[in-house]
Amino acid sequence: MSILRTIRIFDTTLRDGEQAPGCSMNQGEKLEVAKALAELGVDVIEAGFAIASPGDFASIQEIARTVRGPVIASLSRAAEADIDASWNALRGAERPRIHVFIATSPIHMTYKLRMKPDEVIEKAVTMVKYAKKYCPDIEFSAEDASRSEPAFLCKILTAVIEAGASTVNIPDTVGYAMPGEFGALIRTIRAGTPNIERAVLSVHCHNDLGFAVANSLAAIEAGADQVECTINGIGERAGNAALEEIVMAMRTRADYFRSSCGADLHCNVDTTKIYAASRLVSTVTGSRVQPNKAIVGENAFAHESGIHQHGVLTNRETYEIMTPESIGLPRNKIVLGKHSGRHAFGERLKELGFHLDAERETRLFEAFKALADKKKVVTDRDIEALARGALPERPAAWRLKRFIINSGSTIASTSAVCLVSADGRECEQVAIGDGPIDASFNAIDKIVTIKPVLETFSLDSVTDGKDAQGEARVRIRQGDRMYNGRGVSTDIVEASIRAYLDAINAALDDTAVEDGISSANIEAKRPEDAASPRSAANVLAETERSPQCQ
Ligand code: KIV
Ligand code: ZN
Repeated sequence: MSILRTIRIFDTTLRDGEQAPGCSMNQGEKLEVAKALAELGVDVIEAGFAIASPGDFASIQEIARTVRGPVIASLSRAAEADIDASWNALRGAERPRIHVFIATSPIHMTYKLRMKPDEVIEKAVTMVKYAKKYCPDIEFSAEDASRSEPAFLCKILTAVIEAGASTVNIPDTVGYAMPGEFGALIRTIRAGTPNIERAVLSVHCHNDLGFAVANSLAAIEAGADQVECTINGIGERAGNAALEEIVMAMRTRADYFRSSCGADLHCNVDTTKIYAASRLVSTVTGSRVQPNKAIVGENAFAHESGIHQHGVLTNRETYEIMTPESIGLPRNKIVLGKHSGRHAFGERLKELGFHLDAERETRLFEAFKALADKKKVVTDRDIEALARGALPERPAAWRLKRFIINSGSTIASTSAVCLVSADGRECEQVAIGDGPIDASFNAIDKIVTIKPVLETFSLDSVTDGKDAQGEARVRIRQGDRMYNGRGVSTDIVEASIRAYLDAINAALDDTAVEDGISSANIEAKRPEDAASPRSAANVLAETERSPQCQ
């Protein structure tokens, strides 16, 4: 009789994944992703880093209050203020977890923490005990574990388990480890930490050398009980271990793991929900999945060459080691267009990871019909673009009412943009610029009080074809903070205006999720530095009344 071993899946898309440049999500988007993760069946959702920003705090709080099933975790440095913030955000959760970390490698202890190894152990123990007063489920992470002394790791893990840590996590923070080496480290920890059986042994791998998944799997073979990962492998620098790759490797090569682990591996993920989760994360973060990405890339199940096509038609297993259906990718999709009904549209939304309430779905169906009138075929990418717009938005200080442009190859472009404020005032301004988009941004700058710097601007078509929708993305800098915005329309000037306004609204709303938080710059960020939330109305109250506003 074979033994069953359960591998816990800890998803950190909303925390480590969101730290990736350009992957920030607003509160509504994070909630949507959290719901998709719960549907997927992950064991733990790391919802954010509560002390990092008011936006992070609010998102964790909402997820904790709303999402049922998985454990909800919040990250904290080994500091009382961080742990207090995590607990305050998590207290509504059915199953809260406080995740406390401190660095254990010589380089981090010497240059970042400026602490002696014994001081680090004492700090870790004190903070685990402090967190334990709030809730029983405490995870401890030894940051940069793969570059730490194994004997020191065993010592600190023994101490924190004694202090009450119920999970101990071994991160390969900088993606430095090799699979054989990382597996050996996990074996050393299992053998050298006398009380390890009282805790769940976890690993958390980054992909700097492209080994995040290989290292996670090597760790599982060596006795890890939990793997930390993200959807589509998003995360800082080269990203984190990709959830879908770990889960599908365990499933597809169950035979291999049965013999290497001496047990049947099991995890609670429903693999048929993988595609939906992947699409949702890609849509809300705007981080496109590379076409040849394992499991969820557009080409992952495409057979292009004649020989392969012939083989697959004769017997799929000639060139297919997994079925598209096993990740929830339907083989024959119904094409949606203007004759499609509400039911088919609702089903497609679900396949793409969106679980909207009836009212939003109805509004979206109307927008879909309007688009279908303009385009013959409405593709999945079109629907995703529309659906993202239907998610609860961040508070908006300004909305677009209308714009008129005058542009051509022999004249300077002019744009007249009319915005409506949160308290209903209409403001119109005219500006010239180097092209209609520049002119429109200049007109907006004349209306809003902040003077952001446009850092990046990109325009993509959502799909192929002349009638494709355009998707604009902008990144602006306001002070020392970055804000992202996105806009979609069949008119590229409108998409650009919407994206610019979206970023401006994020900047005006201090509760917007701060972009690009890394553990390095969080070190410098004390709780007292965290900006207090200001509402869109407050921002407007500070806005001087412009003569163009009525
Ligand atoms: O990579 C890392 O070390 C982390 C820890 C904070 C868990 O993300
Ligand atoms: Zn990490």
